[in-house]
Amino acid sequence: MHSATQHLQGKTVILTGLRTARLALCLFAPVYLLAASGSEAGDLKAGRAKALMCQACHGLDGLSKVPDAPNIAGQTEPYIVAQLQAFKSGARKNEAMSVVTPPLSDKDIEDLAAYFSAIEIAVVKIPGG
Ligand code: HEC
Repeated sequence: MHSATQHLQGKTVILTGLRTARLALCLFAPVYLLAASGSEAGDLKAGRAKALMCQACHGLDGLSKVPDAPNIAGQTEPYIVAQLQAFKSGARKNEAMSVVTPPLSDKDIEDLAAYFSAIEIAVVKIPGG
């Protein structure tokens, strides 16, 4: 009995510890992200210039111009970076993107992600809403 109680108490301590860690993450992650974007964020202007490479399919406004290309305006920056890196490395494959991304440097990818993610979009209507 004694050791069972001790065991339970141990679990509680671990749980409390986890909860504190999660809270700390919630509190400090945004600060960390801000700090990260402050120092290494892509350059919007450079991104806009580089986006000319993308406009035939995604539009300079980030809204798809061809049926098989997705809208990327206002997409989250980390997601755009991750997808461009995935196409570049070959982890994600697509006829168009697998050709477009290999020449892009990490800086190009950051600039493009900064530009497309900064395009402000608004939801005007939700079907059935
Ligand atoms: C010739 C057309 C074409 C060009 C040019 C092009 N793309 Fe794409 N892009 C596509 C298509 C098609 C997809 C969808 C890929 C798939 O189905 O997996 C895509 C997917 C993407 C995605 C993933 C979106 C998601 O929701 O997962 C991103 C990000 C992206 N493109 C960014 C760019 C950027 C930045 C450029 C310019 C450097 C660019 N693309 C140039 C056609 C194009």
